Amino acid sequence: MLVAGNWKMNLDLAAARQLTAGLVSSIGKPEKTLVAICPPFVDLDATYSILHGSGIRMGAQNMHESDSGAYTGEVSASMLRAVGCHYVILGHSERREYFGETNEIVSRKAIQAHRHRLVPIVCVGESLAQRDADRQNAVVEEQVRQSLDGLTVSQGSELVLAYEPVWAIGTGRTASPEQVESMHTHIRSLLVELFGQKTGYAIDILYGGSVKPGNASELFARSNVDGGLIGGAALNAEDFASIVKSAELAA
Ligand code: PGA
Repeated sequence: MLVAGNWKMNLDLAAARQLTAGLVSSIGKPEKTLVAICPPFVDLDATYSILHGSGIRMGAQNMHESDSGAYTGEVSASMLRAVGCHYVILGHSERREYFGETNEIVSRKAIQAHRHRLVPIVCVGESLAQRDADRQNAVVEEQVRQSLDGLTVSQGSELVLAYEPVWAIGTGRTASPEQVESMHTHIRSLLVELFGQKTGYAIDILYGGSVKPGNASELFARSNVDGGLIGGAALNAEDFASIVKSAELAA
């Protein structure tokens, strides 16, 4: 199980320090669950100095696909490693929707992340219109195939997938446990096809989209649900710790 918090564009330095300290004391070191938080870039260094030595890992929310250069406003994989990141979220639907991030860009970023020993958390998920047209399986399949294009089997062993239906993100509307299990099973079979049995089964598939303390247990109990990518509820230490506890019980 892996529970990762995506803070998005929230919390300045002081607030990030406060939440991180609260998480370290309330979460401790879970036995069976990996925990990560993904703060904004400017909070990473300070966050890591609080997390260091705790049971919580750190990730970034995005990165650029190049090593360095004239890319004003961007941050590289090696910069993220240098401040202590273990993970990087790639292809979140907000990046796809507002910043034009395509599957091809996500795949180049995933390959670059691996070159710098960052574990990508690659996000996929259909829109409401696509779900209403019953096209979710085809849409997600294309995203998975194209976003992971070029990754080798050994890179697949250091990879996390996150299924986040766009209509469930930040809306308070969660996909039903049946919908989640069905999509995760579909994604699992694709991962097995792409990376083989051993690696395909070892990849954690997270669900994201309005996961809260009240619904985490029923989602984590489903097969092929290996944890969650948490947005809104990751901004509250008590809520996030409670979701981690649900994962620990389901593991
Ligand atoms: P949410 O966000 O939990 O606020 O719906 C999830 C995400 O976007 O990763």
